[in-house]
Amino acid sequence: MFVLTLILFILVVYYLKYRRSRKLLYKFSEGLHSTGELPIIGHTHWFIGGPEKLLNNIRSLAERIDDTGSICKVWIGTSLYVVTFNLDDVQLVLESCLEKDSSYKFLRAWLGNGLFVAPVHLWKSHRRLLLPVFNNRVIEDYIEIFGKQGDILVKRLQDRVGKNQFNVYEYVTSCMLDIVFETSMGEKMHVQSNPDTPYLRARKAVMSIINMRLFKAWLQPDVLFNLTRHASSQKENIDATHKFTDEVIMKKKTVYDKFKYNINGSEEEKEGTKDTLQILLEREINFSNIELREHLDSLTIAGNDTTALVISYVLILLGNHPDTQEEVYMELKSIFGNSKRIPTKEDLGKMETLERVIKETMRLYTVVPIIARKTLTELKLSTCTVPAGVGCAIVPFVMHRSKKIWGSDADNFNPDRFLPENCATRHPCAYMPFSIGPRNCIGRHFAFLVMKSIISNILRSFKIISEPCGPLKIEIILFPVCGHLICLERRS
Ligand code: HEM
Repeated sequence: MFVLTLILFILVVYYLKYRRSRKLLYKFSEGLHSTGELPIIGHTHWFIGGPEKLLNNIRSLAERIDDTGSICKVWIGTSLYVVTFNLDDVQLVLESCLEKDSSYKFLRAWLGNGLFVAPVHLWKSHRRLLLPVFNNRVIEDYIEIFGKQGDILVKRLQDRVGKNQFNVYEYVTSCMLDIVFETSMGEKMHVQSNPDTPYLRARKAVMSIINMRLFKAWLQPDVLFNLTRHASSQKENIDATHKFTDEVIMKKKTVYDKFKYNINGSEEEKEGTKDTLQILLEREINFSNIELREHLDSLTIAGNDTTALVISYVLILLGNHPDTQEEVYMELKSIFGNSKRIPTKEDLGKMETLERVIKETMRLYTVVPIIARKTLTELKLSTCTVPAGVGCAIVPFVMHRSKKIWGSDADNFNPDRFLPENCATRHPCAYMPFSIGPRNCIGRHFAFLVMKSIISNILRSFKIISEPCGPLKIEIILFPVCGHLICLERRS
């Protein structure tokens, strides 16, 4: 009895101390608008359910918040988030609040301090070092690789002509994996001809466990997670992916060292297209092997599924908007005539209709639906000052379909929204598939070039037919529940 009372006493003291340490937070929260909140559990009930229900819940809650016109609070367990749809406030958050929210911590087990998740003090210097590797001139060197891999994709798709509908994402993601591995590490993975390797299986397993953790509250505390079989499976698979990248780095370093100090001892630079790793080695940027691995893993993870998803959504949308598909096809005909050559930088620059189609697709299907940051110092927004240590959630997926911003036809596909005259007066935060501010997507130029190259390659060879996309789900990023189903007809 005495022991029980003592434990109870300790727990009460601990709880009171915990509440006292968060007094400021509770006081701040009391002053905020709320919608959809329940006593004790706050908004946690909105975040329970499978990936489809979850996305619908997030959308409904976000729309309710948008309707209030105020900055609102959302309590998920013990974490407080402010959520705003005021475009000036969104801009303030994304431009001045650069620390990722603690919900990204599950990715840290895998990506360590890679650029995507790095704490802001490290991120600042590492982003500066990595930016030149993503400048337009470097990226444009990869256009030939995009074209060659796109050709392989088209050859693989020939088998599907005139047959039943199929999930085109499976094909596009293999092609994108080949591209991101070749451009980031110089590794020819041949995923398109061999999509089922132990490394890729390990990657898939880690992603699915991290996704599960993100949205299942009971798996979030380490003590509980470590009791499940998922913990050992995650470790085993993360180790396998790390081993793969570590080996590539070691191999490249050895080759680079041999090359750099050739038998005469003179220094030389290797000619030809240079992958990210090679550029980093040549510039003698002092990343440790672990830092190199964390950045390369971040790039291959952030750059693959996102881009493959957008390409697949474009194909679905064009498949059920035949007039727009014909317009894009005519544009490609005017650029390539009957030539089968792969797209050059000049060709990609001429694809203006296709560019508008891609932009409108990323508005309707915002593959990174939520961005979450954490305040490290006070942040003054339009109607409140957010104290340090609070999460700020931005929901581009809902903003991109907001009738207030895009008009009553916000849900309709209309690439003309991106004609220059229609973009001129738009708020910079009305449209932000790549986020905005200093921590926006470092790979956006890469993404645009590769998407144009692959899509144009497919559309020059095939006519796409498809039904509308159907329900969506959130698995870190935005997927259709039934896949990206399309049918193909050969172009004459
Ligand atoms: C259509 C394709 C893509 C979309 C929609 C996209 C979207 C985004 C978004 C929204 C962010 C910010 C996320 C946040 O703040 O939570 C981001 C960050 C990032 N993206 Fe992309 N991305 C795409 C392609 C790529 C590619 C091709 C690469 C690399 C080759 C890449 C590498 C990164 C990296 C490294 C970051 C972290 C940047 C930082 O924190 O400084 N992304 N991306």
